[in-house]
Amino acid sequence: MKDANSSRSAHHHGSRDAFGSSFGVLVALAGSAVGLGNLWRFPYLVGENGGAAFIIIYLAFVILIGIPMLMSEFIIGRRSQANARGAFNKLAPGSRWGIAGILAVICCILILSFYSVVGGWGIEYLFKAFRFDFTRGGDSAALSSIFSDFAASSWQPLVCHTLFLLLSGLIVILGVKNGIEKFSKVMMPLLFLIIIGIAVRSLTLPGAGAGIDYLFRPDWSEVTANTFLAALGQAFFSLSLGSGMAITYGSYVSRKENIVSISSQTALADTLFALIAGCAIMPAVFAYGISPGEGPGLVFITLPHIFSQLPLGGVIAILFFVALLLAALTSSISLLEVIVAFCIEEFHIKRRTAVVLSLSILWILGCLCSLSQGMLSGWKIFDKTIFDLFDFVSANVLMLIGGLLVVLFVGWKLGRQVIHDELTNSGALRIPVWLLDTITFLVRYLAPAAIITIAVFQWI
Ligand code: PFF
Repeated sequence: MKDANSSRSAHHHGSRDAFGSSFGVLVALAGSAVGLGNLWRFPYLVGENGGAAFIIIYLAFVILIGIPMLMSEFIIGRRSQANARGAFNKLAPGSRWGIAGILAVICCILILSFYSVVGGWGIEYLFKAFRFDFTRGGDSAALSSIFSDFAASSWQPLVCHTLFLLLSGLIVILGVKNGIEKFSKVMMPLLFLIIIGIAVRSLTLPGAGAGIDYLFRPDWSEVTANTFLAALGQAFFSLSLGSGMAITYGSYVSRKENIVSISSQTALADTLFALIAGCAIMPAVFAYGISPGEGPGLVFITLPHIFSQLPLGGVIAILFFVALLLAALTSSISLLEVIVAFCIEEFHIKRRTAVVLSLSILWILGCLCSLSQGMLSGWKIFDKTIFDLFDFVSANVLMLIGGLLVVLFVGWKLGRQVIHDELTNSGALRIPVWLLDTITFLVRYLAPAAIITIAVFQWI
């Protein structure tokens, strides 16, 4: 007869979920990385920061800091097989490193609060697209007030926000293999197909060349210190870094997977998607003589304006908002999974309870974010609305701190030997020594130095 203790611990180990295949790992990770960051944030940041020069700096950050940091988070997760906080506690028992994991969970809570509001806007715009609202004419002033009236109204965005959270919760409740992996396997290929289709339509418009020039011909005179800040922040946001995502997903990955190739493939998929999204959006923006520097409203105001004039615009609008919603969902489930995995393992509760608990908190915070676009727009902290504050604190403060702690932990606390051991799967994979040494150097020196320099510039 088993005693209660051993059966409980057997149950605990036996019940830990995991990804079922290498392809599953890749689509889940790429699903987290590809999101509103690519379709909503990247195009308007490119537009605000002068085009190609911003993209080149962004690419350099992805390669030099993003990929090594993704590998570092992976190492922590796979080595510990635990949630973001549990991982640090397992690898450095009795230390204060666990705080880094708690920061990551808080970061995910803040991101998901406003992310689900924007995801909700995506749902509303998909409905609008199905009703062919955008093709009924209307100038950009009308479309712009449609957006601001909608975002500022009370109940409608709240209903959409609630729906978006419920959809994410439904997938996460099914677990890692049966929920997250299955969903991503179907949706990610579909997402790529849709965005490529839209890019082809956009690139074949008369006058598209100006958009391509803008995306790929750098104008260095536009680059300022701010360009670097914006590019690093975007690299973190887009690759889901510093938020415990790759720690959590990494903990569901078997010791046979190749961390170097999974991390590079994830970064490649994310970057390709951002560039294709750029090719879908910018040529159309230029062909219709719209300013690319529209800011956060680019996707919700400028694009509907284009859809209203574009041949086949009604269909493209539907496809675009389907893509936006899918991209947002595969990312929001990863944010939710970080929080849920933390609750399950640290509070010893069931997955279902953890999902309900997390959703309740997220729902309240998300309502505040949503209402801060209208009714509560007067509530300001540090001169920012709640929505802007959550965005700023998560992407520009917590992700940077979280990412810094991750590379310091892996580079200095775990150290060179552990990095080599994890990246080669204890010698089973043949990875050239120069590559291992370069990665170790980036993790130990370059990434921390770059983050600290940029953070200091940002905060002074
Ligand atoms: N990478 C996602 C995007 O580009 O939209 C956002 C994100 C997802 C950030 C998951 C952090 C995270 F843990």
